Amino acid sequence: MSFWQRHQVFEKNSIILIVGILLAIAVGGLVEITPLFYLKSTIEAVDGVRPYTPLELAGRNIYVREGCYLCHSQMIRPLRDEVERYGHFSLAAESMYDHPFQWGSKRTGPDLARVGNKYSDDWHVTHLSNPRAIVPQSIMPGYPFLKETELNGDNVADHLKTLRAVGVPYTDDQIANAAADLKAQVDPDGNGAEALTKRYPKAVVRNFDGKAGAPTEMDALVAYLQMLGTLVDFKIYNEKANLR
Ligand code: HEC
Repeated sequence: MSFWQRHQVFEKNSIILIVGILLAIAVGGLVEITPLFYLKSTIEAVDGVRPYTPLELAGRNIYVREGCYLCHSQMIRPLRDEVERYGHFSLAAESMYDHPFQWGSKRTGPDLARVGNKYSDDWHVTHLSNPRAIVPQSIMPGYPFLKETELNGDNVADHLKTLRAVGVPYTDDQIANAAADLKAQVDPDGNGAEALTKRYPKAVVRNFDGKAGAPTEMDALVAYLQMLGTLVDFKIYNEKANLR
């Protein structure tokens, strides 16, 4: 019997075929799954990526609450048209502290993974309040109530703690100061700004909504949008990648 004729055993008996298939899948599965138990992480560490500041995190919560992800993705694919339009393709590390991640696949509006620093704060406040004031044919809903709603920061420290439980490396210091940091990020003249940027490198301290006083939901959402995609310095990242 030649080698190929032996294969007829499988072709003629469905039970033997099923046992054969199960064996093949078991071996293939083990080869793929076993290494994962020995790897600390499947995400390559990248310089600059840090957990969200309390204000950015509050903004992210509003982004999720309002369902922005239903129209906006946050994942630039490594395809030429995407990279030319939106910038460097997204790295896994850039969303490693996102629970849940906001990659999405529905793009009624543009991808927002690198929208940070693309527009001024004022642009965002105007656009979010009434998108048609800036893009007459826009079908994005307006969110004018955000700038009238004071941000509720009561449970932000608990949120940091919860994220720590699922692996985000918030320190005791960051958790203890969460409520103060939330307020400090909208008050560039206050004395909490310096400590905040020490705890969260590259955190931008600004009066995002342009209104004096307590932080509003608009402050938080704009702070979040303005940091998206800005943590990694791609000049340095690509130089290192070339050395690898
Ligand atoms: C019904 C779908 C829809 C929803 C929901 C939506 N958007 Fe949009 N968004 C759009 C469309 C379409 C555009 C492009 C036209 C424009 O700029 O208004 C856009 C544009 C934007 C832009 C400008 C992007 C760029 O690079 O020019 C930002 C920022 C933005 N949206 C943020 C948000 C946020 C934050 C939310 C949630 C509070 C949200 N969007 C909810 C559809 C949506």
